[in-house]
Amino acid sequence: QVVYLNGEWHAATAAKISVNDRGFLFADGIYEVIPVYQQRPFLLDLHLQRLQRSAAAISLSLAPLETYQVLITELLQRNRVMDGLVYLQLTFGIDEHRQHLPSQPLTPTVYASVSPFNARWEIPTPFTVTLLDDIRWLRCDIKSTSLLGNIMLKRACQQRHADEPLLHRDGRITEGASCNYFFVRDGQLYTPPADHLILAGITRTWVIHLAKQLQIEVHETPLFTHELTAMDEVFLTSSSREIQPVGQIDDIMIGQGQCGPITAQLIGAYHTSKR
Ligand code: PDD
Repeated sequence: QVVYLNGEWHAATAAKISVNDRGFLFADGIYEVIPVYQQRPFLLDLHLQRLQRSAAAISLSLAPLETYQVLITELLQRNRVMDGLVYLQLTFGIDEHRQHLPSQPLTPTVYASVSPFNARWEIPTPFTVTLLDDIRWLRCDIKSTSLLGNIMLKRACQQRHADEPLLHRDGRITEGASCNYFFVRDGQLYTPPADHLILAGITRTWVIHLAKQLQIEVHETPLFTHELTAMDEVFLTSSSREIQPVGQIDDIMIGQGQCGPITAQLIGAYHTSKR
């Protein structure tokens, strides 16, 4: 596997970053995960636009977006993966020593790699998810590499033997630790709004687009844990999970614990769109 680091290409095992990189010391950086199908990055423009929004939010200066497009193209050529996940990360760069604010402008560290990915073409087995308090900060809209909260939640979820947490703040549903959630009630689709409490997933955006094409009504609206028993179908979305049905939320069974018809319809539309 060949990775990109600051203008150079290295074997993944040979690439090295400085102990004074602000990404290492402070997780002072942003990232994107971009699916690749048949050697083509999927929804790349949307991912790069979100990278731009994350960068603007933390005042990190980016190169023109075409630079990253060219970089990803070369990464895919050098690695020859068919289906993969591109990881692109930028940090504020290497300082002289550990200080919260750098004394002079630094050159951002840019890192990119691609790993093989088992893209799904069938309906996956439904997940069991568990409700957990969303303990993260209030800028979840930034795709930051500071993922300590998310990882603590993943560990808590693992201890309960669930596949993914469903997070809420005082009963108001937010998202998963690395995915967004959708709910179906009476044939209509519901998902929490893309505010500062969630990451506006690219898969989420695409599912909303596909649902509208299928004449399914979509509501981006606050949802509450007490409404969960009324849901006919639940699924989660992310670049790596695509559309994943949920069969159970703690002791609440969703539908018959199987993938519901609207979820199946959206999975079909999603698979067709990635060809
Ligand atoms: N995670 N919410 C959170 C907190 C996420 O970390 C992710 C993605 C999503 C879904 O976003 P998208 O549809 O753009 O992948 C929502 C990536 C895959 C990760 O951290 O590996």
